[in-house]
Amino acid sequence: MADETFGEVPQSELLYELKGVSYSYLDKFSALNNVDVSIKTGERIALLGANGSGKSTLLLMLAGLIFPSKGGIKFLGRDLTEGIFFRSKVGIVFQNPDIQLFNSNVADEILFGLLQLGLPEKDIRNRLENSLSAMGIKHLRDRHPQYLSIGEKKRVAIASVLAMEPDVFLLDEPTAGLDPRTTRHLIETISTLSEKGRTIITATQDIHIVPEIADRAIILSEDKIVIKDGDMRDILRDKELLERHNLIHSHTHIHEGKSHLHPHEHPDHHHPHE
Ligand SMILES: Nc1ncnc2c1ncn2[C@@H]1O[C@H](COP(=O)(O)OP(=O)(O)OP(=O)(O)O)[C@@H](O)[C@H]1O
Ligand SMILES: [Mg+2]
Repeated sequence: MADETFGEVPQSELLYELKGVSYSYLDKFSALNNVDVSIKTGERIALLGANGSGKSTLLLMLAGLIFPSKGGIKFLGRDLTEGIFFRSKVGIVFQNPDIQLFNSNVADEILFGLLQLGLPEKDIRNRLENSLSAMGIKHLRDRHPQYLSIGEKKRVAIASVLAMEPDVFLLDEPTAGLDPRTTRHLIETISTLSEKGRTIITATQDIHIVPEIADRAIILSEDKIVIKDGDMRDILRDKELLERHNLIHSHTHIHEGKSHLHPHEHPDHHHPHE
């Protein structure tokens, strides 16, 4: 494991640097196209884009699980190449929780990674309990992950990454399938992690959560190109841009950087107090 070679992740430094990165699955299915992106330590970034625009592919690359077909990626100034493994620095929650879960009960699922960190027993117990309660899954600790509901699986997958306390969190559609209360807990957890200086990169179709989890947004187009990279508020205000890239449909409206569904107009209906 090459974890040690990266040492501590310093604050406000260039964390990732991608230059001219392209990626194709099986050498024929294009998934990223000439992407230039730099990410600093402590940033909160939302990755936006239609289905198939390359969001998950980009997260897998940031996690060091796949490597550019063309171009280069650096992590803390060093080339990320196959064989470099930085599990305790970077944690990823996959879009599909089934890929993440392979132990026979929820507690073991969370302990699996933790036990490899060489922490004292007391810290391991604390991290286990804290991550179970952050995701509201204490009651599921003895259950088999495979036989949980989709939302429950997602909570377990997130808890297993939270427990590792990585410097960099890569979250792929973390709120998909979560109920409102769990979504709220997750947003609060992300805020707390960010205040502690962690870097948080979230791919999401849930435009409503973007103002709460990101300061910067990157939009990938259906051609797998970065077509916009900038201030989250500016991007959310650009309704035409969002519609063009299939991030909102015409009935969703954005006000003050917040998105909400515009109510249908009923011209004949009047409130009793009007
Ligand atoms: N394992 C794979 N084999 C072949 N092609 C793939 C594979 N995974 C993804 N692709 C292709 O790569 C492109 C980018 O896919 P990716 O999963 O990164 O998109 P995404 O933006 O995450 O989409 P979604 O919003 O549906 O999650 C798509 O065209 C997809 O068909
Ligand atoms: Mg995806």
